[in-house]
Amino acid sequence: MSDSVFDDVDVDTMIPVRLLINGRDHELDVEPRDLLVLTLRDRLGLTGTHIGCETTSCGACTVLFDGRSVKSCTVLAVQADGHAITTIEGLAGDDGLHPVQDAFRRCHGLQCGFCTPGMVMAAVSLIDEGRATDEKSVRLALKGNLCRCTGYHNIVRAVLTAADPSLVDDA
Ligand code: FES
Ligand code: FES
Repeated sequence: MSDSVFDDVDVDTMIPVRLLINGRDHELDVEPRDLLVLTLRDRLGLTGTHIGCETTSCGACTVLFDGRSVKSCTVLAVQADGHAITTIEGLAGDDGLHPVQDAFRRCHGLQCGFCTPGMVMAAVSLIDEGRATDEKSVRLALKGNLCRCTGYHNIVRAVLTAADPSLVDDA
């Protein structure tokens, strides 16, 4: 009798997956243990998604999974089979920056930029879900995204500005 549900999994077996990333279909073979973040970066060259902790703590790897933010160091590539993934590279359109990217730029919501792709993706999801309603809700919702530089104040201003400029006194 098996001791673990993983006993029957051959980690060396390549599994075909189909990922819809930034609106483009990608068919590739992955190992069962491959993390989504490494697949994005190493297999597809989408290095805008950063790796910080690899333990679900920092949020640097945040992407949208069917429109909801997830930490891609905590998602296996096989779990993303058949799903739509949006990375920071997929946000800007033909007419320029996404409104959240533009708000980060205008509000000085970044310094070194390491946390920024994850912050922006988390903010996009937060705003789309209608949860960026005031400073407290934004700070609470972004508590899983760490920034070593900014002190968070301008990040919060940027998210509120993108959600509704009237939420920010000096937006
Ligand atoms: S690298 Fe994924 S949460 Fe830190
Ligand atoms: S801008 Fe440097 S870690 Fe956030």
